[in-house]
Amino acid sequence: MRELRALEPDFWRAPSAHNTQPWTLTYTAQEVAVGWDPDRALPISDPTGRDLRLSLGAFVECCLIVCADAGLDVAFRADPGPLRVGFLHRAPEPYRTPFTTADVRARGVNRGGYHPGRLPAEVADRLTGVHRLPCRDLAGLLRAADLHQFGDPGVTRELRAWLRLTPRHPRYRLDGLTDRALELGAAQALGLRASLALHPVLRRLGLPRVLAAASGGLLDHDGDVLVLVGPVTEQVELGRTLMRHWLTLAGLGHTTHPLSQIIDCDRTREALADRLGVADPLTLLHVARVGRPKAPAARSARVRT
Ligand SMILES: Cc1cc2nc3c(=O)[nH]c(=O)nc-3n(C[C@H](O)[C@H](O)[C@H](O)COP(=O)(O)O)c2cc1C
Repeated sequence: MRELRALEPDFWRAPSAHNTQPWTLTYTAQEVAVGWDPDRALPISDPTGRDLRLSLGAFVECCLIVCADAGLDVAFRADPGPLRVGFLHRAPEPYRTPFTTADVRARGVNRGGYHPGRLPAEVADRLTGVHRLPCRDLAGLLRAADLHQFGDPGVTRELRAWLRLTPRHPRYRLDGLTDRALELGAAQALGLRASLALHPVLRRLGLPRVLAAASGGLLDHDGDVLVLVGPVTEQVELGRTLMRHWLTLAGLGHTTHPLSQIIDCDRTREALADRLGVADPLTLLHVARVGRPKAPAARSARVRT
């Protein structure tokens, strides 16, 4: 199992909310425990651990794909425990996957502009557990969710801790969300830094409205939003599914821009569940706009390279 260590930089290309890279690998001779570092969780913006478990599932899927591509026969056994989701272990046969390490390296979210156009039905049909909606149907919910998010001092404080809005930030090349990943120009990055620093003072003067307005036009175009729905108890497994969906889309020239704020806010999550005819709003696990990006995105940073 020690051969896995050399592959860690590729495992680490997995996506995680706020790019916290919360995963840990603990090696023994027979197996490797997959767990998380509580200092890299998001207790305020992700209080139920939904995004944490999805990110851990995405990480497990990356590990299995990269191991298979390296000729290592490895499988995953779910075994939740304290700060642990399960174990990677030697398997009698390779993990069967159409994806490669090159696919894992090439994937990334894209928060820039998208070409107009809906996702072809035959592509959407390949994405199990996913509902598809026209972007414009969710523009109002996104605005309400952004207002809610930026109106919450705890959530903005936690977001601020993971923002790297200038290359001078000491962790700019390690983790978190950079100005380039967020597609912010120099003036916008400076404005966001200043307004978040002054958030406690400016909140009452309408700062949340100004910040929410910044994403106003995001869904005002001809495109699709995907919503992953599944049992709350299966979040790690569904993180693996999400990773496969993103790799499938990437292979077809599509990228996603997650919009978790819509399901982080009770009111907008309930409204979305209602619109989709889903009985339990907590089963809405991930929301993202999807499409063909107009330009490639900046590569996100990683602790392990
Ligand atoms: C479960 C999950 C939730 C996410 N939620 C958001 C989100 O609400 N907004 C956003 O811009 N990115 C979101 N992301 C994307 C991450 O910020 C992104 O994966 C991370 O910064 C690494 O970048 P990369 O995916 O381009 O490698 C989410 C990712 C995951 C796995």
